[in-house]
Amino acid sequence: MITLGVETSCDETAVALVRDGREVLASVVASQIERHQPFGGVVPEIAAREHVTAIVPALEEALAASGVDASEVGLVAVTDRPGLQAALLAGVAAAHAVGLALDVPVMGVNHVEAHLVAPFLAEARDPEWPLVSLVVSGGHTHLFHSESDTSHLLLGATLDDAAGEAFDKVAKVLGLGYPGGPAIERAAATGDDAAIPFKRPYLNPQSLDFSFSGLKTAVLYRCLGQDANGRPGTELLPGLEVEDVAASFQRTVVDVLDRKLQRAVDRTGVSRVAVGGGVACNGPLRERLAGTAAARGWELKLAPREFCTDNAAMIAARGAQLWRVQGGEVSPPAVQARASWKRV
Ligand code: KG4
Ligand code: ZN
Repeated sequence: MITLGVETSCDETAVALVRDGREVLASVVASQIERHQPFGGVVPEIAAREHVTAIVPALEEALAASGVDASEVGLVAVTDRPGLQAALLAGVAAAHAVGLALDVPVMGVNHVEAHLVAPFLAEARDPEWPLVSLVVSGGHTHLFHSESDTSHLLLGATLDDAAGEAFDKVAKVLGLGYPGGPAIERAAATGDDAAIPFKRPYLNPQSLDFSFSGLKTAVLYRCLGQDANGRPGTELLPGLEVEDVAASFQRTVVDVLDRKLQRAVDRTGVSRVAVGGGVACNGPLRERLAGTAAARGWELKLAPREFCTDNAAMIAARGAQLWRVQGGEVSPPAVQARASWKRV
């Protein structure tokens, strides 16, 4: 069966066609980054308006690139939560229109759970369960004990900023632009990652939660200093090596994600590990986790880079997976800004 996926939860308008939940026939991602760059982050109202204009061209482009005739599509899958409410509505409305036009069902998909499918896109076989799975993105830092396609138990999550959000905010302080992750990674490549020993926010020794806002504040004061009232300055301190700050910050985040995954594996006894989300594009993170996996005998699945950041291939794949496990039953889209999971 061919699934058409639609993703509009944040600032990417994406459409994809995926065969049998695995084979990506086309994946179009229309980024709105340039529209949001002047504001240093995503503006929800602009995002929603952009989706409305970008969605039809993205649909046309994806169908043309896939070589699939629209009549071959058997299911439409669309992100319905979590995300920016107005942005989600634009995608869900478009998905309903496509479903109506093609006379096929429309399935609502949880964006975070779709990030968990990305490590298995293009794999020859289905994932083996259970898994320890980590989603690290601009909006989410979620660590799960995944028992099956449909049972993700939350082991830990961020108490404040998501990992990608920390990359974005630190890049803004350093004047590196938006999105921050790729900019920090580039700057860090020529920096010394041991130059500044930022405190690692591991929280208490058992915790599988994350906290990146203290690290972000530490970077802020390190870069801008403090005025007589204890407020951060407005200019980077003279002589500050931006590359060293970027590398030291990135190393701190990598250390934390690596340590928390090790704790999760020790806690659950599950040594199959899957990682997805925009931050999983990060080269030093990928290298570190590959090293840990080799040393500890984990089976590690990292999402292919092109499917780490937001895309509709993972939405289509997740929709097809749900369709299969629910025996052909459809969960219609129910737009929700937030999503929650059972905690263990
Ligand atoms: O998954 P995603 O596209 O959107 C959300 O669901 O949030 O993730 C976007 C996030 C941004 O915060 C971006 O700065 C970060 O992923 N990111 C990276 C890299 N590429 C994207 N973070 C670190 N290193 C990268 N190379
Ligand atoms: Zn995402």
